[in-house]
Amino acid sequence: MNDAPIGVFDSGVGGVSVLKTCLDVLPNENFVYLADRSGMPYGNKSHEEIEKRVELCVRTLQGEGVKAVVAACNTATNVGIASLRKKYDMPFVGLEPAVKPAVAACTRGNVLVLLTPLAAKQEKFRELVKKHDNGRLIIAPQEDLAEKVEEHIDDFRALKKPTFDILRAYKNVECVVLGCTHYVFLRPLVEEFYGGRIKIFDGNDGAARRLKTLLEQNGKMSCLGRRSLKFIVI
Ligand code: DGL
Repeated sequence: MNDAPIGVFDSGVGGVSVLKTCLDVLPNENFVYLADRSGMPYGNKSHEEIEKRVELCVRTLQGEGVKAVVAACNTATNVGIASLRKKYDMPFVGLEPAVKPAVAACTRGNVLVLLTPLAAKQEKFRELVKKHDNGRLIIAPQEDLAEKVEEHIDDFRALKKPTFDILRAYKNVECVVLGCTHYVFLRPLVEEFYGGRIKIFDGNDGAARRLKTLLEQNGKMSCLGRRSLKFIVI
């Protein structure tokens, strides 16, 4: 039994969608959410810069006494999760674009993968694509979509035009992978654009379930009810 909090971080609001799923899956756990708004956007920076930001996030969360960390960001995960696992003696859960389930569910059309430019460049992501490529994967990095979501989080419908402008280029799509946690907030707009004819995937459920398994395996589950949910912005 261990009732220390679990740290969850992202460059901004994107990871809140992951936090929400974790809160549902782990009702007894306490959480600290860290939004690295000074580092935002991660997706347009260099590998080295984001490695440093990720390190800063983890150190800040360590200062909060966390027992595990969720990198609630596909970009941070692709850049830095391997070195975090080597460096820190604590369970880490990352977010990965849900390419595998999308390809498995895709029977005839294309699989459109929306993600940040930096995530798309990473070796970890390229390997994922190589492993699951069915010849119908469309990898579509987005320059400034995460920033737009960050700006309009209280009114994401304001992003209807930019979202539709992006999707208009992609026809014959059967599955859409929201490979950036910020884009998860755009799910209703993506559904609206394709008229509900497509399947949409994100990594949130998988990450929350993985977190639960790791806590169980490491004997770190809390059995007391939830007492704290803290938000930090740096
Ligand atoms: N939310 C992050 C992700 O999942 C990226 C947002 C950003 O570019 O800062 O990749």
